[in-house]
Amino acid sequence: MNLIIMGAPGAGKGTQSEKISAKWNIPSVSTGDMLRAAVKEGTELGKKAKTCMDAGQLVPDEIVIGIIKDYLSSDKCKDGFILDGFPRSIPQAEALDAMGVKIDAVLSIEVPDEKIVERMSGRRVCTCGASYHVAYKAPKVAGICDSCGSALYTRDDDAAETVLKRLETYHNTTEPLKDFYAAKGLLVCVAGREEVKDTTADVMNALSKFEA
Ligand code: AP5
Repeated sequence: MNLIIMGAPGAGKGTQSEKISAKWNIPSVSTGDMLRAAVKEGTELGKKAKTCMDAGQLVPDEIVIGIIKDYLSSDKCKDGFILDGFPRSIPQAEALDAMGVKIDAVLSIEVPDEKIVERMSGRRVCTCGASYHVAYKAPKVAGICDSCGSALYTRDDDAAETVLKRLETYHNTTEPLKDFYAAKGLLVCVAGREEVKDTTADVMNALSKFEA
């Protein structure tokens, strides 16, 4: 299964990717995580990416396409993969087609903008990659990661004004991909619900028809 997960910032792409990855035993890759790793390492690519990410804009297509091309040609992806946050523009989707990558389904998690703003203000993340929400997915000890015991922090781009900018970018540049993939008969839309487990149940149900 080669799956794309799309949705507004904070719609729950990463949260649901983790569940699907565990159930189907296929790797999940987030271009956001890859870019944040490059920022942390201080690479040239990371420096370029940081300016765009902090402004709530997309990183230039050619950078992200290059990263994904390398990743998809690795051995890890030979039995399937989940792309979390890629493609995010029509040129990125066309580049994926040009790579000859066959996509089996595109899952869009739908959450209204006002709910997104509330969710992002409560998100806390860890350097180990774990992600929490102060109300909906709270760690056992407030402010501490369940997995590795490190202190949790708020992502720079979760500041309220940046979230609004990210939402605008999503509606203008990424949302048109829904029509692009619907025309190919690949789009499945699921409403992001109040509780993570309810969304997961709907996601698994929607994807069950693609299971071998
Ligand atoms: P990226 O890291 O991909 O950010 P994003 O798309 O804005 O999405 P998030 O990671 O913020 O949220 P999510 O949908 O994964 O939600 P999560 O599961 O964490 O990208 C960051 C930046 O990198 C972009 O702005 C861009 O600059 C750049 N970039 C990345 N990919 C790119 C590309 N292809 N091209 C160009 N630039 C690119 O959930 C959010 C919170 O809600 C969590 O706290 C979670 O616990 C909680 N939650 C989740 N589900 C539920 C639920 N059902 N009910 C209640 N709470 C829930």
